[in-house]
Amino acid sequence: MKFDIITIFPDIFKGFVSESLLFKAQKKKLITIKTHYLRDWTEDRHQTVDGKPYGGGPGLVFKIEPIYKAVLSIKNQVLRKNKKLKSKVILFSPRGKKFTNELAKKWSKLDQLILICGRYEGVDERVAEYVADEIISIGDYVLNGGEVAAMAVIEAVSRQLPDFMHDADSAVKDDHAQYTKPEIFEPKKGISWKVPKILLSGNHKKIAVWREKHARRASS
Ligand code: 6GU
Repeated sequence: MKFDIITIFPDIFKGFVSESLLFKAQKKKLITIKTHYLRDWTEDRHQTVDGKPYGGGPGLVFKIEPIYKAVLSIKNQVLRKNKKLKSKVILFSPRGKKFTNELAKKWSKLDQLILICGRYEGVDERVAEYVADEIISIGDYVLNGGEVAAMAVIEAVSRQLPDFMHDADSAVKDDHAQYTKPEIFEPKKGISWKVPKILLSGNHKKIAVWREKHARRASS
């Protein structure tokens, strides 16, 4: 699966793609993550990617031309290889549809996700109307731009790929409370924080019941 990110801040992704499971997944050729610098698709000397909003108002709005050119070029790179490959174009916006694990699962079956990182002030609405397949928000709060949202989507979608996790269960792990050594932790004299007795009992039936009670399952 290929993740193509269109952004004016490609450096934000440097650490993200070169650590831990995402790094391993790239080495295993399970995924590729590529950033595309939006300014590379401009024609003018100043590499202008934004302009004043029609109708007035503060802030600048991303222009449609560089985004359109970037998406077209990135899509073609994949489709040239195989016309049947499935690709989706995502625009990040706080006004978008809420991203869920269910969507992550669905998108993990695609061959390519093109992720357009807008900025909070806005993107020419024709990108949403004509270029993007889906407009996505990751939660009810406002970010400076789509970069953090893109990272959330890449991680959640990658986790759904069959060979991403070490053991197959891990994609749904962390769905109940867990403890590890020490059995009793004493942060200060007279205070002790203990592991629930049931988990030390060796009674697997009781442990399963306890875990069910302390589950916090996202649809996974
Ligand atoms: Cl996708 N973008 C921005 N700018 N803010 C957000 C968001 C996206 N999702 C939640 N807040």
